[in-house]
Amino acid sequence: LGDGPLNGRHLLVTAGPTHEPIDPVRYIANRSSGKQGYALAGALAALGARVTLISGPVALATPPGVARVDVETARQMADAVEAALPADAAVMVAAVADWGVEPTGQKIKKGEGGPPQLALRENPDILATLSRHAKRPALVVGFAAETNDVIAHAQAKLAKKGCDLIVANDVSGDVMGGERNLVHLVSAAGVESLPEGPKDDVARALAARIAEFLKN
Ligand code: C5P
Repeated sequence: LGDGPLNGRHLLVTAGPTHEPIDPVRYIANRSSGKQGYALAGALAALGARVTLISGPVALATPPGVARVDVETARQMADAVEAALPADAAVMVAAVADWGVEPTGQKIKKGEGGPPQLALRENPDILATLSRHAKRPALVVGFAAETNDVIAHAQAKLAKKGCDLIVANDVSGDVMGGERNLVHLVSAAGVESLPEGPKDDVARALAARIAEFLKN
């Protein structure tokens, strides 16, 4: 570790889900194992980068050479990304919950009034905010999990988020929580499909593309 094409570079990676508490025992979350983000953080560190991994709650070991910041909510993840700047590149792999609730300090009781009404509020879009940030990294990468029209949805997301590259994740198969992945790299330059394979291989290929971009 420590010697490679990303030597001297600071890379920011978000990974895992966020948990949005409803009360002290319940939360809202997206499904995410964190495996692809952790694999990417490790692959970037192996190329010599200083890596800050901002992680939601997952059951994974920190890859060697990676500095990990644990967070729970989307708000905390947004603040941790802000605090970790500046960075040469940022890759937002986390499956951030789109909505949170104003949590109550006490456990909500099952009552006779029926189920509670949750007032959802929009969470910050970390990727979109970073793409328009005064301290925007030279390369901002987002992920998009899609089951259909993968490329078209990724191209729309690229424009909407204002990032440089979308890693379009075809989750129509057995990807969620699994060991393998199939991704297409969608940018203004076009579409490049990486071979389907283990998440570690996908991470290495993506890390190599990022190193290539930062060389220029
Ligand atoms: O909007 P959507 O969730 O489909 O976009 C996915 C991409 O945006 C991922 O890179 C994810 O990490 C990022 N994202 C974010 N903050 C949010 C929602 C998504 O950074 N609140």
